[in-house]
Amino acid sequence: MIGFVGAGRVGAQAALEVASLGVDDVVLVDIVPGLAEGEELDISHKLSETGVDVSVTGSSDYSNIRGATVVVITAGLARKPGMTRMDLLGKNAGIVSSVAKEAARYAPDAVLITVTNPMDVMNYVVQRATGFPKSRVVGMGGVLDLSRFKHVLSLKLGVSRSSIMALVIGEHGENMLPLARYTSIGGVPLTSILNEKEIEETIQSTRQVAIDVISKKGATVDAPANAIARMVKAVAWDRREVLPASTFLDGRYGVEDVGIGVPLMLGAKGVEKVYELELDEKERAQFMKGVETIREGVAALPPL
Ligand code: NAI
Repeated sequence: MIGFVGAGRVGAQAALEVASLGVDDVVLVDIVPGLAEGEELDISHKLSETGVDVSVTGSSDYSNIRGATVVVITAGLARKPGMTRMDLLGKNAGIVSSVAKEAARYAPDAVLITVTNPMDVMNYVVQRATGFPKSRVVGMGGVLDLSRFKHVLSLKLGVSRSSIMALVIGEHGENMLPLARYTSIGGVPLTSILNEKEIEETIQSTRQVAIDVISKKGATVDAPANAIARMVKAVAWDRREVLPASTFLDGRYGVEDVGIGVPLMLGAKGVEKVYELELDEKERAQFMKGVETIREGVAALPPL
């Protein structure tokens, strides 16, 4: 069973995707009375028509996630236009810490996927609050960021989206690091197709797009839900998928004790392998800016 703590826009959409794919039974929990029950009904109605036989349950009772193999945490406040992810820090730390403890109580063997922003810092909060092994706490950011990079590239190059293999690592925030050198179009290195200035433009557009979505429709929902579903599938089906996500570095990339987005293998045990990439000077400077921002976020946390 897959638990979703937070049945707001992103949590509910991700639960819908996971249930629609028939990955496993789904349980939603939200603090707002009735909200998760409403999602239970709405999603179940869809599944009844499409003929998918997984059960969907929604309530405010955490005991319903007992025994979950994966718990997705989206509980907390979302960004409003003009806010950075870091503006959410203090408020969301308290919420995330308390819901993570509930998740650990009822699903002590689960892999936890942190989504709430600022995600890399909240992923630290989840690990600290639960005491789970670091391999079983992983943050969603990179898959979403790379979906945005792919979109920008598909428009720029006029190629099928399916031909683009992109990679975005680093902080899930202002310092995200789209890696043009590790991006290919059907195997052809992006760096042999676009010049440096064009690449820089695509990187800037990729950093900007989340703000555009928030200012236009109020929240980012569909692409994050898809990214969450991909990570849930990787764990639930033990796909050992290699994707960028936030994990705790133990000296790799020259970084100790900070969780940040890097390519990793995700399977039933959680983070099964972390891949270390060679970064050039400019990429490394951006990566380290992200590390510093996350460190500052962690240092600014209220007592957990
Ligand atoms: P939302 O406001 O629609 O949903 C959040 C839900 O959390 C609400 O339903 C609220 O009642 C619930 N909640 C609050 N406190 C709770 C508690 N103590 N226990 C259980 N539920 C609680 O927000 P949305 O748009 O779903 O975003 C959720 C979070 O995910 C935000 O922090 C947002 O910034 C973040 N986000 C992160 C992304 C990423 O790439 N990591 C992408 C998109 C959103």
